[in-house]
Amino acid sequence: MEKLKITGNGPLHGEIVISGAKNAALPILCASLLTKETLKLTNVPMLRDVATTQKLLQGMGARVMTDNVQEFELTCGSVNNLVAPYDLVKTMRASILVLGPTLAHFGEATVSLPGGCAIGSRPVDQHIKGLMAMGAEVTIDHGYVHAKAARLQGARIIMDMVTVTGTENLLMAATLAKGQTVLENAATEPEVTDLAHCLNAMGAKITGIGTPTLVIEGVDSLHSATHSIVPDRIEAGTFLCAAAATRGKIILRKAAPKTMDAVLDKLVEAGAIIEAGEDWISLDMPKRAHAVNIRTLPYPAFPTDMQAQFMMLNSIAEGTSTVTETIFENRFMHVPELNRMGAHIEAEGNTAIIHGVEKLSGTTVMATDLRASACLVMAGLVAQGETIIERIYHLDRGYEHIETKLGGVGAQIERVQ
Ligand code: EPU
Repeated sequence: MEKLKITGNGPLHGEIVISGAKNAALPILCASLLTKETLKLTNVPMLRDVATTQKLLQGMGARVMTDNVQEFELTCGSVNNLVAPYDLVKTMRASILVLGPTLAHFGEATVSLPGGCAIGSRPVDQHIKGLMAMGAEVTIDHGYVHAKAARLQGARIIMDMVTVTGTENLLMAATLAKGQTVLENAATEPEVTDLAHCLNAMGAKITGIGTPTLVIEGVDSLHSATHSIVPDRIEAGTFLCAAAATRGKIILRKAAPKTMDAVLDKLVEAGAIIEAGEDWISLDMPKRAHAVNIRTLPYPAFPTDMQAQFMMLNSIAEGTSTVTETIFENRFMHVPELNRMGAHIEAEGNTAIIHGVEKLSGTTVMATDLRASACLVMAGLVAQGETIIERIYHLDRGYEHIETKLGGVGAQIERVQ
């Protein structure tokens, strides 16, 4: 099994080019199921989750062409298998995103229930409730959701909580429904917005994009389009945190600072000097970071996907801080691993109290989810001596060439068997 070997060696310096956002690419790849024509995508990150989505779509009969340089052409005219099997869904929960578009376009869909995962129970009741409100007949048998509807009908749906993939599934389904759908309490994450723009380029009629009320006038069919995936704000935030933790100075290219206000504000509060233009961000961290309090909430507030990275930054910052996770019930798996590296963190329920320490020391660590793994990589960059990160397949799900990108700004990091 592959591992990452990191030797802490001081500040990061230089430039990193940010990839397309995983969490925008996954729903947008699935949006190709809404049309028989070809959807052309650029700036698609080359990640394990993207490869899994490709496999899922191909298994359904889609034609997927990719040159492995971030461009994809997907044609779903020949889709004839309306099933997303457990084998794939269990490796990637986002597989649930084929449910809405497959049902809306082909009148039927069968998707394995994703079940829980390392960060929480993560039900999909809101996805199902919304589709039923649009007239779908939904049954759950043998661990699979079966949904059927000759044609979905527009409906007003008030979501019980803000859900990113829930909003995306219903948004995709509503584009082909008969009449108007109103999604209230919709997620406003930039990845949802990017999907909505792609759908409109395909001929959908969505207004209220970027607000909690999405209004969709259903159309009879969608058509071909070309779309470039929005830059990954979480990848960008992770590298900024890494540079801040090492007291470095970096510049990110092809980034989207406008989608990162909450994260950039916290970095400034921690003592970073941040400058940003349309598609670049620079960070200079001249001194040890100050501890900052964090509370995760839906966009535009502080993202849960940056919680672990800030926990790591706080663990070596000056002062004591609290981090409260309100989105997922079990997203502190990195705490014991950071403590093994010398951090002083007490976690109880959904709050962690972090007492900043002067230094961490390298050891062998492993994590059970993507962002927790990223925080351990950061910890390795600042720790004294060598850190070995195990189970890096989590990282490969969501960070494109992480060792090459960090190596390019001076980190001593290599992939070993
Ligand atoms: N929830 C329900 N019922 C539902 C849907 C959600 O109870 O039907 C709950 C969840 O259990 C959770 C909360 O609502 O407590 C929010 O979950 P959400 O549905 O928004 O999460 P998601 O759509 O499954 C996406 C990202 C996650 C990111 C969250 C929150 C994708 C593919 N995944 O997940 O990304 O953490 O939104 O922003 O977009 C990651 O990239 O590492 C990652 C986990």
